[in-house]
Amino acid sequence: MSRFRHLISIDDLERDDIEHILSKADSFVEIARGEKSSGILEGKILANLFFEPSTRTRMSFESAMKRLGGEVINLGSVEASSIAKGESLADTVRVVSGYADCIVIRHYREGSARFASVVSEVPVINAGDGAGQHPTQTLLDLYTIKKEVGLKNLRIALVGDLKYSRTVHSLIKALAHFGAEMLLVSPEALKLPDELKENGSFAECDLEYAVENADVIYVTRIQKERFPDEEEYRKVAGSYRITAEMLKNSSAVIMHPLPRVDEISYDVDSLPNAIYFRQAFYGVPVRMAILTEVML
Ligand code: CP
Repeated sequence: MSRFRHLISIDDLERDDIEHILSKADSFVEIARGEKSSGILEGKILANLFFEPSTRTRMSFESAMKRLGGEVINLGSVEASSIAKGESLADTVRVVSGYADCIVIRHYREGSARFASVVSEVPVINAGDGAGQHPTQTLLDLYTIKKEVGLKNLRIALVGDLKYSRTVHSLIKALAHFGAEMLLVSPEALKLPDELKENGSFAECDLEYAVENADVIYVTRIQKERFPDEEEYRKVAGSYRITAEMLKNSSAVIMHPLPRVDEISYDVDSLPNAIYFRQAFYGVPVRMAILTEVML
């Protein structure tokens, strides 16, 4: 019996549901690495509807589905689909839900995944809706923290674009369930919106304090595509950067949902602190856990 039909927002999950997915992901790690095989999703089809660019989310869902014996169909580029002829999101989702057993959707408009879930005949998974939420990223972020540091007594610094980063917006809600202490580090113009601070323990600090005191530094890219104009973006571009020199006396692990632009220097990659590429891999077993939850 599935705990949820759709996965639209992290708000839809209780702590118990989150822990269930994290435990389930453990059982998929060897399959995700290709060390064991599985046909648990044989005969099932996943439809990927990506209206915004993606590497990790789209490809890790594909990898998860294929390693579990399922098939994937893709909308492909929006320009090559009938959306270019004026077809609505509602009609697109209705039609595609007749071709697949589950839909993964990424869209530039906040609320679009919820809307898709209302018109779809099959489960819908939100792969990012504008500056709203990115719940599957949050589950893989939590899985990474659980594996690498532990979720108990966690002090995590959230660094960068806290205003527009949907990965942060989802993650803080989930971390509140685990009693994490959250340190907020951002330029003035990119602060976390007040309405997102209703639950949880928050304190603002500078990057130096975060590097010395946090267990995890969660760095985000400035979300250039969400800025109202280029001039506003230019005012904050390049305003923070983690370097190997800054981390020489720090035991904090560095996470990033990726892609990075210039906010983590490449000399950090070879340090034991850097766990962002393992984090990206964990997307596969976590998405296997989600796909099997909604489809079986
Ligand atoms: N973290 C993340 O969502 O990456 P992509 O945009 O490449 O999917």
